[in-house]
Amino acid sequence: MADDSEAPPAPPCTLVIFGVMGDLARRLLVAPALYNLAAEKLLPEKFAVVGIARAAADTDSFRRDAREGLREFAPAASANETWRWVEQRLHYLRGDFDAPETYEALAKWLAKRGASDGVHNVVFYLATPPDLFGPIITRLGQAGLTREGETFWRRVIIEKPFGTDLKSALALNREVLSVLNESQTYRIDHYLGKETVQNIMVLRFANAIFEPIWNRDHIDHVQITVAETVGVERRGKFYDATGALIDMVPTHLFQLLTLIAMEPPTSLDADAMRYEKVKVLNAVQRASADSVVRGQYDAGKVKGRAVEAYKRSPDVAPTSRTETYVALKLLIDSWRWAGVPFYLRTGKSLAARRTEIAVQFKRAPLALFKDSGIDHMRSNVLSLCLQPCETASLRFSAKVPGPSMRIEPVEMTFDYRDHFNAAPKTGYETLIYDCMNGDATLFRRADEIEAGWRIVQSLLDAWRDQKSEPAAYHAGSAGPQEADALLARDGRQWRAIA
Ligand code: BG6
Repeated sequence: MADDSEAPPAPPCTLVIFGVMGDLARRLLVAPALYNLAAEKLLPEKFAVVGIARAAADTDSFRRDAREGLREFAPAASANETWRWVEQRLHYLRGDFDAPETYEALAKWLAKRGASDGVHNVVFYLATPPDLFGPIITRLGQAGLTREGETFWRRVIIEKPFGTDLKSALALNREVLSVLNESQTYRIDHYLGKETVQNIMVLRFANAIFEPIWNRDHIDHVQITVAETVGVERRGKFYDATGALIDMVPTHLFQLLTLIAMEPPTSLDADAMRYEKVKVLNAVQRASADSVVRGQYDAGKVKGRAVEAYKRSPDVAPTSRTETYVALKLLIDSWRWAGVPFYLRTGKSLAARRTEIAVQFKRAPLALFKDSGIDHMRSNVLSLCLQPCETASLRFSAKVPGPSMRIEPVEMTFDYRDHFNAAPKTGYETLIYDCMNGDATLFRRADEIEAGWRIVQSLLDAWRDQKSEPAAYHAGSAGPQEADALLARDGRQWRAIA
């Protein structure tokens, strides 16, 4: 993590993107992420991108395509001088990911560059379907491209999902670490690059008022919500084989969970942070089948737009049982959290887009107000909205003006964007920059991934055995009723998402 806005440019390097014609690279990596980094002068003068894909294209058409992408996916940016700076550094190499010739051609390209301007540092970014991560790393190793020298480094960024279950994640870690050192391995979760997610750490540990009450004595429960309005869109093939649990929970939701629940690390050092996060995951109790709800959206309307049922989406089986929504209750076995439920939910085609963490405190006793006709007081809630708004709000009770004693909940809100006047970013900017600087704090270590999988594996097993249908919910709603029942059983309710 760069620690001030005057951060220097990253060291000279080449960024090799495997799968450069895919959705991720087109929508997020080249524009806006590289554009934003260039605009902030965080890319080195000696910088180049080599995009690799199977598609018949060349450097000229790749640059034209990238310019189109800029218009489409970063409308606030323009094909200005900054973009021209990026564009002239883009190169295309056509090749099959499983053909040794591709790696020979890449090795030649990198050697030529090394000879002409002395740049040997390389970040390999695997923006490909997950089943190619292992084979590409093996090929890179065989071609000698992951070997580091006294004066240069080689690093690999691996996208998510990392494995499709515990067994495959363990196997992938073995395969990766037979070629790379852990210190060369950057397993990405773009949530960790979001400013608002990093701000959770600052909020908790740079303010003295929260830590003393951040425990089971004062906190009633925590709700973590990642609600999306988008449906499965054009990702049917990937999504139908993946589902909401694997797509979102061991990655994005567990990152939010661990940042809220971890003990203060001893430093901002990558290992100190990751050690504390793994401890949280290891302390999560195995969830029973009745503390999990799966849902799948039916036809409906999202923000006035008609949405077809998930089962009718392109590349989705008409009889699919894949969940597009999941809600779960987790308990953490630790002195700090014993007995405090963490309710997590995420879903597609919901009523609103909202990523939020809400920490609900225990109610104040009514003692003082018992004879004043007040029979109920709302709890304090600290809510952190990470997107689309970027706010921290505290709900507390206030007296309604007038002669009688009436109490109402009010909110005090801090708006990150208004205050710092910061342009929204994708999260990838920070992570690419950190990797170029060798800072792995915001990346996931092998044991963290494995601990996450251990929690969800039992649920996957149970679902596979039960072969039950997910609960239906209408597109544009807040999710299935069964998810409401999950909290109602505990005398609680979800916060509104819209
Ligand atoms: C991705 C998931 O990792 O995160 C997508 O694969 C999801 O299904 C996306 O839509 C959400 O990211 P963000 O940044 O829009 O919250």
